[in-house]
Amino acid sequence: MAARRTLLASLVLACLAQACYGNVLFSSLQGTLIVSASSQPGQVLKAGEDKITVTWRYNQSFPAGTDSAYKTVQVKLCYAPVSQVDRAWRKTVDNLAKDKTCQHAITSRPYSPADQSYEWLVQKDVPEATYFVRAYALNAEGVQVGFGQTTDKNKTTDLFQVQAITGRHASLDIASACFSAFSVVSLIGFFIAEKRKAKPSSASN
Ligand SMILES: *[C@@H]1O[C@H](CO)[C@@H](O)[C@H](O)[C@H]1NC(C)=O
Ligand SMILES: *[C@@H]1O[C@H](CO)[C@@H](O)[C@H](O)[C@H]1NC(C)=O
Repeated sequence: MAARRTLLASLVLACLAQACYGNVLFSSLQGTLIVSASSQPGQVLKAGEDKITVTWRYNQSFPAGTDSAYKTVQVKLCYAPVSQVDRAWRKTVDNLAKDKTCQHAITSRPYSPADQSYEWLVQKDVPEATYFVRAYALNAEGVQVGFGQTTDKNKTTDLFQVQAITGRHASLDIASACFSAFSVVSLIGFFIAEKRKAKPSSASN
């Protein structure tokens, strides 16, 4: 009896957890945050080199208190539809637990309705693609309760591109790193050799 009750309780808990955390539908969220980015439409940013400033604030046209549960703002880099074609691993799913649109975290900040901004260096591991920026408002449980994005509903305006570090760039980086390591080692070797050479002669003087 007790065991059955425990089982039932855990089933109920599991279902509640699923309902609360597992099934937030993007389409159910209100776009209460105004988000913009410093990038120009169509701009090409170089991964590992270029920076982007993201700015966000609460849209005061929403009724006061709409943001009362907001605790954190999570800013993310998201694939534009053009970079999702034929790539199931970037697919947009309305259920946010399964959504793959926004895979790269930009930052997470405590929520404030006032203007907030963050300068982000486009990380080296960001794949070459077309992107926009989305910010989610999270409640105390870390569940999405609002959002804002730099593009329109159809995700076609104000998109920017990231150019990845090319293979050639990467191998050049490695080559120059090896070369400088080699020159430091050979410089040390040279000094040791010189000292050894210098010793007997200074002794004979
Ligand atoms: C703020 O929200 C209102 C009401 O939803 C909307 O009409 C308006 O365009 C939003 N403002 C901005 C700058 O997005
Ligand atoms: C968004 O896409 C839908 C379906 O493709 C289209 O009917 C609608 O006009 C588009 N809206 C905007 C603002 O471009």
